[in-house]
Amino acid sequence: VKIAAYGVRPLERPYFDRLNKYNYDLIYIEDLLTHDNADLAKDADAVLVRGNCLVDRDNLERFASWGIKYVFTRTVGYNHIDLVAAADLDIAVARVPGYSPYAVAELAFTLGMTLFRHVNLAINDTRRGDFRVTDGMFSHEIHRSTVGIVGAGRIGFTEAKLYQGLGADVLAYDPYPSPAAKEALELVDLPTLLATSDIVSIHVPYFPGKNEDLIDADFVHRMKDGAVLVNTARGELANVPAILAGIDSGHLSGYGADVIVDEATILGKHFDDVADVPSAPVRDLLAANPRVLITPHIGSYTEPALEDMISISYDNFNEILTTGSTKNAIHA
Ligand code: COI
Repeated sequence: VKIAAYGVRPLERPYFDRLNKYNYDLIYIEDLLTHDNADLAKDADAVLVRGNCLVDRDNLERFASWGIKYVFTRTVGYNHIDLVAAADLDIAVARVPGYSPYAVAELAFTLGMTLFRHVNLAINDTRRGDFRVTDGMFSHEIHRSTVGIVGAGRIGFTEAKLYQGLGADVLAYDPYPSPAAKEALELVDLPTLLATSDIVSIHVPYFPGKNEDLIDADFVHRMKDGAVLVNTARGELANVPAILAGIDSGHLSGYGADVIVDEATILGKHFDDVADVPSAPVRDLLAANPRVLITPHIGSYTEPALEDMISISYDNFNEILTTGSTKNAIHA
């Protein structure tokens, strides 16, 4: 069985090889899937993608015309896949519903603590030779503070535990909390969480057409004065003008994001100048000030997460090839 795997960095290949217990024949493609490189999968039986790969109707039609019946993603999120088109074309889609939740949780926690202790402001100054201590560096301590987790699934729950380990009060908002979240976290409604939390961390899936701009002006206004906002979920959930207005007025003391809008045209590229980044909201974020921290979607870029993504994807293929279906299938 031949699998065309898109978005495989050279560093990741040995993991794909080492974990290949079903001896699949792999076509490694470093770039993310676009309209221009779909034909690299022509001889494959199946396609494996990750986030920001363009799995739209056009590409699915191409795959179907070459007899490809399986297009799987090794990510949790699947907003990059046109599930309706896949169903129309009789292409099965599956995902990895969870990999090491510490990967994203630790990054969200790190962004949150960096902004909370104003390390971002301090290193921005010292790098320029400025060793003065400014009022902006005066901080609270996390054990006497409150953290709000929006979305208490595996990742949100794991981040909550990290903060609880430091003695913070952790609140969570989740309309469908797991039994573990119910037992270990204080569940509150969203307005209460926003009004009370010194750090708010977002861990909800993005459903195109349904929850873009979840973080809008009202959300920002409801947040506590001086709070920090962290988004390691999806860029589309955040309304950039609303967040920057909050930063500029001083109402928010920081925004940390591992995700941005228009990622497919930005990630993996090098721009000589920020002005060349092909997305106005992202240029605005980067131009903002040291209170905005952006990382290039590295939350899942850890060894345990990578191993899970690959090995669960292989299991998904094996399950569907041997039984006709997989428990990790996703449908429109
Ligand atoms: C996800 O698993 O949903 C991610 O965001 C991972 C990334 C490689 C797209």
